[in-house]
Amino acid sequence: MTRPNLMNTKKQLITRYILINNIFINIKMTTENLDLAMLFKKYGSDKDRNGYSHLYSTLFDKIKNDKLNVLEVGIGTMIPNVLSSMKGYMTDEYKPGASLRAWNDYFHNSKIYGVDIQPDTQFKENNIETYLCDSTSKESVDNLMSGLNIKFDVIVDDGWHLDVAQLKTLTHFFPYLNEGGIYVIEDIYPGSNITKNPKLIRDIVNNNAHFFVGLLNNQCVIYKKPLDSNGFC
Ligand SMILES: C[S@@+](CC[C@H](N)C(=O)[O-])C[C@H]1O[C@@H](n2cnc3c(N)ncnc32)[C@H](O)[C@@H]1O
Repeated sequence: MTRPNLMNTKKQLITRYILINNIFINIKMTTENLDLAMLFKKYGSDKDRNGYSHLYSTLFDKIKNDKLNVLEVGIGTMIPNVLSSMKGYMTDEYKPGASLRAWNDYFHNSKIYGVDIQPDTQFKENNIETYLCDSTSKESVDNLMSGLNIKFDVIVDDGWHLDVAQLKTLTHFFPYLNEGGIYVIEDIYPGSNITKNPKLIRDIVNNNAHFFVGLLNNQCVIYKKPLDSNGFC
């Protein structure tokens, strides 16, 4: 991972008002000062509501200025009655790509990629690129990746939250994660085979470090960093 080039950042000036002793104070901050929770809320993603901002800040704050390739599986379709649709779950103001926009502000020197199976999720904006890709299909993922010809430093799976799909997505995208990269599976549901049998993850990521977090272990974090013979990274 390269160090940040401070001459080349996409800083935006943002004005906020805070109330101290009944006086509104106008503070100016750059996007570098914004925390993830605020960004997820600003763009309408449910990630803060789901309690994920702290974990992501802990994992990513120290690399957020780096020049990275960041991928999110699942952009957020508003087509009703399709798999993992945001329609009916979020308000009608929700716009596909909410979390991609938050990542774009947060990883402000990085390229942000999003993949989804639904056509309404496709757009190009700032440093964000989106692609149609079924993460549960090896052929679809390999086709995408042979066109892109890159590897990712961060991968977040917020696609189809069924355990079988999450395991397939990990199998297909893990080879495209850089050494030292981080892969997060979100929304592992209660009773999922992944939490009942964590060996399913270990078999896919082999000897790379991984751990579960959250209520009922509903997120899994995988570092592409092999454990030594004592089980330490
Ligand atoms: C929960 S939404 C993503 C929300 C978005 N990340 C956000 O925070 O604003 C899940 C998305 O995963 C997509 N999806 C479902 N199955 C998929 C698959 N096999 N491959 C890629 N995307 C998939 C759905 O179309 C939907 O848009």
